[in-house]
Amino acid sequence: MIEVPEWRLSLEVTLKNETNTHTATYCQLASVDSGGHPRVRTMVWRGFDESDHGILMCTDAGSAKRFEFNQDSRAEIAWYFVDARQQFRLSGFVECLSINGDDLNLREQLWSKLSAGAKKSFVDNSMLKKTAKDFKFETYGDVVPEFFTVIKFQPVFVKKLDLRSEPHGQQAWQLTGLDWVKKRLVPSL
Ligand SMILES: Cc1cc2nc3c(=O)[nH]c(=O)nc-3n(C[C@H](O)[C@H](O)[C@H](O)COP(=O)(O)O)c2cc1C
Repeated sequence: MIEVPEWRLSLEVTLKNETNTHTATYCQLASVDSGGHPRVRTMVWRGFDESDHGILMCTDAGSAKRFEFNQDSRAEIAWYFVDARQQFRLSGFVECLSINGDDLNLREQLWSKLSAGAKKSFVDNSMLKKTAKDFKFETYGDVVPEFFTVIKFQPVFVKKLDLRSEPHGQQAWQLTGLDWVKKRLVPSL
């Protein structure tokens, strides 16, 4: 297991202090589509992969983003915390873990952590309608539906912007080999 990187410790402190903001777990995740255009959408952060500090989210196997990430794994997250007035911007790569993937464990873990309402919403809104229709409500708690896909975002560069100070505080970390190296930054907007 890689030592807990400083950016993650910093992000966790901010998340912990932001418990009164119900949107604190919402972040913006960008992908690149087949025409090379950026595509961005709001996602719910579901936790970290404890083995390598990857950022976990979930989606439907039929979603456009899964096809985009399967073709081009480059991704960026922008995450703003209202109370803290801090932004985390993370650049990296996404791996989509779906039924054909090899990590049922992570899919099971995330599925079991969802509320009954969130599970029902996933089933009802799945774009793979046939599967969703065949999926019985009574099995929500036990079986991970095949369309349930874990998005695992692996950052390689993290930049934190703190708006509380003047000039604004900035910190950045770059993954170099297996080590996170703190970068020197000049003040900017
Ligand atoms: C507050 C909020 C939270 C959302 N959370 C998720 C999520 O966790 N997973 C997801 O697939 N879509 C989520 N969505 C919907 C996405 O923003 C997006 O509309 C949808 O996934 C389709 O995106 P795509 O066509 O790029 O695949 C959320 C939307 C909002 C407004």
